[in-house]
Amino acid sequence: MKYANENRLIVHLNNEPIYDIVLTESFEGLSQELLALGCENKKLCIVSDSNVAPIYLEEIKSLISGCCRQVTAYVIPAGEENKNLDTVRGVYEHLIQNKYDRKDYLIALGGGVVGDLCGFTAATYLRGIGFIQIPTTLLSQVDSSIGGKTGVDFDSYKNMVGAFHMPKLVYTNVSVLKTLPFEQFSNGMGEVIKHGLIRDKEYYEWILNNKEKIIVRDPEICRKLVYGSNLIKREVVEIDPTEQNERATLNFGHTLGHAVEKLMNLSILHGHCVALGALAALRICKNRGLVSAEQVECYRKTMEFFKMPMNVSGLEKHEVIAATKNDKKMEAGVIKFILLDEIGHAYIDKTVSEEEMEQALSAIMV
Ligand SMILES: NC(=O)c1ccc[n+]([C@@H]2O[C@H](COP(=O)([O-])OP(=O)(O)OC[C@H]3O[C@@H](n4cnc5c(N)ncnc54)[C@H](O)[C@@H]3O)[C@@H](O)[C@H]2O)c1
Ligand SMILES: [Zn+2]
Repeated sequence: MKYANENRLIVHLNNEPIYDIVLTESFEGLSQELLALGCENKKLCIVSDSNVAPIYLEEIKSLISGCCRQVTAYVIPAGEENKNLDTVRGVYEHLIQNKYDRKDYLIALGGGVVGDLCGFTAATYLRGIGFIQIPTTLLSQVDSSIGGKTGVDFDSYKNMVGAFHMPKLVYTNVSVLKTLPFEQFSNGMGEVIKHGLIRDKEYYEWILNNKEKIIVRDPEICRKLVYGSNLIKREVVEIDPTEQNERATLNFGHTLGHAVEKLMNLSILHGHCVALGALAALRICKNRGLVSAEQVECYRKTMEFFKMPMNVSGLEKHEVIAATKNDKKMEAGVIKFILLDEIGHAYIDKTVSEEEMEQALSAIMV
């Protein structure tokens, strides 16, 4: 594969380098990276969650205590239900009590919940301080840690309050994926495979050819997997940092996927809903003659291989379509659907009819 041995990517905005993504198989190089960011004069607050902290917090703390002024930690209870302003308040209190000032940094050690919440806290504390992402789920390594979208949920509204705030560094150690529950790994694969489908056929085919090694989380293969995905996410966020247009192609699978996720009351993981949404969207592509039946079947088999849910039950098609129409991806009453005109290339389509959506849902509803 063309990107086989790379271990660093630089993310640019307006042609200026903004932050590095470092890809490794250990935490050894972390203190070196912090020193390069000038951390010896800073206090660092590690924000983690109640599942990740017992496994990795002490190791990180002792590794970085020699390269900064002081380290403290704040552990939040794990789970999406804690990604809210009450939890942010707790982090603010910790920062104030420990006298954190403008030049100090936060470190997000965890999955997307910790990353989004810690990033939002950093964006707003003292009108914005620096933060570093150490993503520990596959989903956060390939998706949420890159792009600078931060935020929290508000009541039942997901990601309702937030800010764009770029990290100073993303330090990704893929060996942490070993301790991730398999279901969460499979969840991340939903987004990983989507990246190949929307932008890179070669990467997509590489995933299919290496699936046996990927599923056992071989660190070297995982690093290549995350690297390939990061290349794609980086390209999209560089072209469209505030999600005006191109970034929307990342929403492939999300149009119907989000509706299913909401109606199932979040009982199916996000990446799995995206995979189901992608399968439905591929059915539309097949019916329009854009992809072949074999290509759809190959995708379906890959979902099965990674033990993703293959269908949803207990919902009516018209409910899903109605929920799709309520989604924020609407523009002036028209649904912005993301389709593929071939494997490896997505585009925005505003002509998908209700009838097509109904047929597509037959692929995933029993
Ligand atoms: N900012 C963005 O651009 C963006 C993009 C996609 C998703 N998100 C957000 O990301 C969140 C989901 O992130 P997620 O899927 O990483 O979920 P998560 O952060 O809830 O992590 C999933 C579970 O795995 C545990 N865990 C994490 N790393 C582990 C490890 N190495 N070993 C053992 N257990 C581990 C966590 O404690 C948690 O229980 C959502 O809130 C979503 O809105 C944000
Ligand atoms: Zn997603």
